[in-house]
Amino acid sequence: MNADALQSLKTWFQNYVQSCSLPVQEDQRNITIKHEHTHQVCLNAVRLAEDLRLDQQETRLAEAIALFHDVGRFSQYLQYKTFDDSISVNHALLGTKLLAEHNVLQDLPKHDRDIILRSVTLHNIFSIPRGLDEKSLLFARLIRDADKLDILRVVIEYFEQDEGDRAKAVALGLPDLPGYSQTVLACLVRGELARKEALTTLNDFKLLQLAWLYDLNFTCSLRMVEERGYIRTLADMLPRNEEIAGAVEIVSSYVGGRLKIG
Ligand SMILES: [Fe+2]
Repeated sequence: MNADALQSLKTWFQNYVQSCSLPVQEDQRNITIKHEHTHQVCLNAVRLAEDLRLDQQETRLAEAIALFHDVGRFSQYLQYKTFDDSISVNHALLGTKLLAEHNVLQDLPKHDRDIILRSVTLHNIFSIPRGLDEKSLLFARLIRDADKLDILRVVIEYFEQDEGDRAKAVALGLPDLPGYSQTVLACLVRGELARKEALTTLNDFKLLQLAWLYDLNFTCSLRMVEERGYIRTLADMLPRNEEIAGAVEIVSSYVGGRLKIG
């Protein structure tokens, strides 16, 4: 993809987001948070692409995927007032439909178009299916890491804000209770991802964010987790007890171990 092509995708996206503005402040906050998320995921994607020594064309492709990975979120919120796919619609598929309806990708080479649509579709599924070609796999891994890295930031900032200033849709409507699910904690201890359906409280949501670190594909992503201090910050937001501390220790040493291997 050349620089002009990427620039015109960015212009389309800016105009599209503008057209999704909402009059109620609380609604607009949810739109703004996804707009900023997209921007940060683009930055993460470019950093990963550079670290992986992708060429300029491929780096632009990675950025275009990041630009559109959550394009369905805006329409999802407009229609359903939620970011919870399980009670509304799969936002990745909604995004690919929207790109097609608006002919956004029509001027791109077919190969780029296919990779963008495939990567958007794969960005939010539980795990990447087997049998993908090498390039599809690379870009699917890249967007999944770039996205997770920024969701960690969004979640941390959500909890750092006063309740009145929060973009409510971020936390999927989970109750802020002192407890947490043993199932979700056990997943974290075993080095596994919990399913979203298992979440019962906001603490479970924080535990799931930590478990996502097991699913990061690239060493550079783990380095970014370390640089940004995400583990410590999230751990400080969880109940203080031995079992939580033990689980956090397991994730920390997992990340430390992978960074050592490089
Ligand atoms: Fe997404």
